[in-house]
Amino acid sequence: MTGKRSKSSDRWLRRQQKDHFVRAAHAQGHVSRAHFKLVEIDQKYKLLSGNARILELGAAPGGWTNYIEGKLSKKGALIAVDPLPITAGVHTRVLVGLAGEDEVDAEIGVLVAELDGLTLVLSDMAPNISGIRSVDQARAMELADVARTAATKWLMTGGHLAIKAFQGEGLDDWVKQTRECFKNVVITKPKSSRSESREVFVVAKGFSGVRDAFSELV
Ligand SMILES: C[S@@+](CC[C@H](N)C(=O)[O-])C[C@H]1O[C@@H](n2cnc3c(N)ncnc32)[C@H](O)[C@@H]1O
Repeated sequence: MTGKRSKSSDRWLRRQQKDHFVRAAHAQGHVSRAHFKLVEIDQKYKLLSGNARILELGAAPGGWTNYIEGKLSKKGALIAVDPLPITAGVHTRVLVGLAGEDEVDAEIGVLVAELDGLTLVLSDMAPNISGIRSVDQARAMELADVARTAATKWLMTGGHLAIKAFQGEGLDDWVKQTRECFKNVVITKPKSSRSESREVFVVAKGFSGVRDAFSELV
């Protein structure tokens, strides 16, 4: 194909080539720069342990998955969910589909029951960007709700949740609500997250065990 690239895709390509974390990801054999964000968040907030039982939402192409697999012992477990293909090891239970849809949630529920509950829910889910800021923000907040619903359904008391979010309408209220059922909730911006991006991560530690806190909100 000889089609001309658009200006924005040229810009994206130039930025990718210059980006320190993209080059480091290639050089170190990671499938995506996203890898570094989880490394930073984990180092700061101590989320992962060898025995952790983890649900990872928005796992493709597999940067976080590979990092988590490297940290888990034989007693740990990982369920990775995405509609797109994930590079994962043989012990990871991969579910293809959209979290928040009944059928996929039912499959997650079966796997979680086999594990006797989760200790950590991670979400790097991001919506397809429309370019209309208010629409994209609303979709991102819906995904934040999907992740929090999963957490309050399947986390054991004391478990943790960490999600990607975007600064904008709805996030502050979302954080406030989350504080009602987690001991400690912070917004963090890893160095490996592009500074010009509104992307942040919310880390919520110490689930209270109250499972129906958001049943009226979703
Ligand atoms: C930024 S990427 C994730 C990168 C990944 N953490 C990594 O390290 O390679 C966002 C992903 O969220 C996925 N996604 C969006 N909505 C989803 C949903 N409802 N359930 C599961 N995955 C979803 C997309 O398909 C996309 O692969």
